[in-house]
Amino acid sequence: MAAKKRRKLRIKLPWKTGRTDSGAQTVTVKKKRRKRRFRLSRVRKQVWYVLAGIIALLALIFVPVQVQKNKLKKLGYSKDTIAVIREKKLAKTLLDNAYYSAYLEQSINDNTLNLDYIDMYTAVTSERGLNNYDFLLINRLTEKGYTREQIQNLFKNLKFWEITPLLVFDYQAAEAPYIDDVIAHRDMNSEYHFEVSGTYYTPYKETLPVPDQSDITMLVNKTYYLDDTYEPSLADLSVYYSAPGQQLAKEAAEALETWATAGRNVGVTFYAASAYRPYSSQVQIYNNYVSSWGQEQADALSARAGFSEHQTGLTVDIAATGEDDKKEFKDTNAYIWTSTNSADYGWILRYPQGKEDITQYEFESWHYRYLGTE
Ligand code: DAL
Ligand code: ZN
Repeated sequence: MAAKKRRKLRIKLPWKTGRTDSGAQTVTVKKKRRKRRFRLSRVRKQVWYVLAGIIALLALIFVPVQVQKNKLKKLGYSKDTIAVIREKKLAKTLLDNAYYSAYLEQSINDNTLNLDYIDMYTAVTSERGLNNYDFLLINRLTEKGYTREQIQNLFKNLKFWEITPLLVFDYQAAEAPYIDDVIAHRDMNSEYHFEVSGTYYTPYKETLPVPDQSDITMLVNKTYYLDDTYEPSLADLSVYYSAPGQQLAKEAAEALETWATAGRNVGVTFYAASAYRPYSSQVQIYNNYVSSWGQEQADALSARAGFSEHQTGLTVDIAATGEDDKKEFKDTNAYIWTSTNSADYGWILRYPQGKEDITQYEFESWHYRYLGTE
């Protein structure tokens, strides 16, 4: 029993019983200190972690911003502009495309930048500038098939009114020869007078099918062609104003009758000598010209098959009656009368004198194309 009691006593350790045994107290304080130190180091560690996290977070936020700012600076933007760029959230677009020009920078600061045309600001100087008319022109050129790079090149080199003729000229697969041609004629051109020599255009080089064969204003020339199967819906022409067996598209046939009748009413008589011509006829005609005159001359006088307006059924070659047979058509009263009022009846003289560089044909005083009076 005694041994058991003793053992029990030994088990009841002094610091656990609270006895004021000096040895026991030392152990308690040491342990408490160790515990506190341990707690302190743990707190310190946590503080460090939090601080490190904050630093990392700040770095994550500010380093990319700084990198972006440096990149913009490298592109050429000033500190003030960079602030505006960041405020307007333009940095990514500008950096992704490496867009910079003094004019673009100016427009960003002026708040005049049109974001849809941001790339165009890099193509022009502030002297050239860009306004709503330019944006409209860009859209029209795009509709005509010009790429943004081509449009940039045009705007970089040419004035507004030097570019607008491209809207009525054939689509040019390469814009650079056109730019050269325009620049070569700068001395004689102005907003009111525009000439080019036509060296930019190589007939039959880049050919395209007529985009809309149902459009009465369709363009057929040495670029745009109709295929060998194209045949419009045709109406016979009355021999009253036509050689036998000629046909035109209905609307053009009616317009010719009205025009020819109006001529008769004032004593001018003319008739359709050749109207609609199918692809196969044009093959014959062109080949005959080549045999007689060689290809170069043939191309000045006759369209290659598919490229003739006669295949549209909207074109007529007219001849005069009751005038001196020896006269060329251009010297007849019929020519004077028809060429003066053709537009009133919906017709245009398609290959006029002095426009050979544009039409790529010699003057044809007899060849009229129906477009409608509008
Ligand atoms: N003589 C015109 C150009 C034609 O052949 O269509
Ligand atoms: Zn003709």
